[in-house]
Amino acid sequence: MTTKRAAVAALLLAPAVALFAQDQADIAFPEGYRDWYQHHTTVNLQGHTPEGEVGIQNVYVNPAARAGLRSGKFEDGAMFVVDRFSYRNEDADTLKQDTRKVVAVMVRNAERYKATGGWGFQAFKGGNPDQPVVKDQGAACFTCHIPHAANNYLFTRGE
Ligand code: HEC
Repeated sequence: MTTKRAAVAALLLAPAVALFAQDQADIAFPEGYRDWYQHHTTVNLQGHTPEGEVGIQNVYVNPAARAGLRSGKFEDGAMFVVDRFSYRNEDADTLKQDTRKVVAVMVRNAERYKATGGWGFQAFKGGNPDQPVVKDQGAACFTCHIPHAANNYLFTRGE
């Protein structure tokens, strides 16, 4: 390859490399999410990554995400949180939410996270802000959310 061609190739590749090199460590822990609107709770049988066992999931949406659920269009800054817990037997009749396993986050930035549908993905093990677990720019997270492309890559529907 001539120097000129190499230079052109490098120029063309630069944006793609920049995109995939996007470090999602920049997604901060969603402080205060428990004051957001709690959209729904599920008992999840297969687990939400990175935890594989049965768990209880509370899904929170910030005001921008709630507006997006109403309008079908999400502005940058819209955020969803899955707050996932294990459970224990409280008594013979009751299963109770127990240890926090993970706080999983999706944050909207159409341009920055173009490669993953305009959503940045991060998850914090045990809900610890110092333990982000996503190291692949959200590629693995995104695979499960792709089938929901027609719903903005979200499982959550409705207000
Ligand atoms: C095995 C499939 C799967 C993978 C992998 C996955 N998710 Fe999800 N995700 C789901 C399901 C199912 C729901 C619906 C959860 C509920 O309603 O309780 C969901 C919901 C969410 C939501 C709430 C918004 C929505 O789509 O309803 C966030 C935030 C989220 N996931 C983040 C992540 C992050 C971060 C990762 C990677 C660490 C990830 N997900 C990987 C299956 C997956």
